[in-house]
Amino acid sequence: MDPKHRVRKAVIPVAGNGTRFLPATKAMPKEMLTIVDRPVVQYAVDEAIEAGIEHIVFVTSRNKSAIEDHFDDTPELISSLRLAGKSHQVSELERLLPRPGAVSFTRQQAPLGLGHAVWCARDLIGNEPFALLLPDMLCYGMRGCMAGLMDLYNETGGNIVAVEECAPEETSKYGIIGKGAAVRHGFAVTKMVEKPHPSEAPSNFYLNGRYILQPEIFDILARQERGAGNEIQLTDGMLRLSETQSFHAQVYNGRTFDCGSKHGFIEANVAFALARSDIGGLVYDSIRNLVVSHEAQMTAA
Ligand code: G1P
Repeated sequence: MDPKHRVRKAVIPVAGNGTRFLPATKAMPKEMLTIVDRPVVQYAVDEAIEAGIEHIVFVTSRNKSAIEDHFDDTPELISSLRLAGKSHQVSELERLLPRPGAVSFTRQQAPLGLGHAVWCARDLIGNEPFALLLPDMLCYGMRGCMAGLMDLYNETGGNIVAVEECAPEETSKYGIIGKGAAVRHGFAVTKMVEKPHPSEAPSNFYLNGRYILQPEIFDILARQERGAGNEIQLTDGMLRLSETQSFHAQVYNGRTFDCGSKHGFIEANVAFALARSDIGGLVYDSIRNLVVSHEAQMTAA
């Protein structure tokens, strides 16, 4: 692939205020809530790196400095861990430290919507294609969702989105696409609608928060009017871009947890804990015991 079409950078929007998790998010960014022992945002960064991304642009907002600190070095902590002989923790901290200069931060000054947040990254991305990962949507599978999108992108170029199927009555929670002709690892996108009522949804394939986009999206977003929820919607901008450029979708073959909801967040914690070799067995036993005693209480009530 021509180097100018290579996807080197990713945007991770982390500007949302997390009101659904108050009071936990009163003084802490929602992206720092933990799934087992890592903050939610770390999973999106790891997925981007697995897909070959070299530079990450975070779009932040006020009160998000903990995210910046999380991706910085901690020399005092590392030397005290070394002194205490905790080499496993040292290597974990060293593994998650980005290369110097490989992360940038810019601020979305007002909560005007996802389309506006992505547009705020335009100068840091420049005139090249980029990956976009919404960290609330936590992808769980053998292989990262973004790595799969990269494979499709290497075949088709253009713009790529990841999709999954939702229950027909849930279309008004997501961006929904229309399904066109099949290509080798995906299919063409015929339509994109943000949060349609089930009666107006072109399918039940929803955008799960993973995208590869061409830089022409920025000019479109600069002029994009407010849409669903009175916000500047990325989906509306992508629909405009699809009038002049190709859009393909790939069905993610893992599972995505919506960690923006309490139920999805707890479900993700359970799923990731069960998959861990260190604590999976203990967690499995605890859940089984909890379910048994909960059912006994329900029957007695
Ligand atoms: C955003 C997108 C939507 C997508 C969703 C995935 O919506 O606008 O198209 O399906 O993320 O979580 P939000 O969750 O910000 O309302």
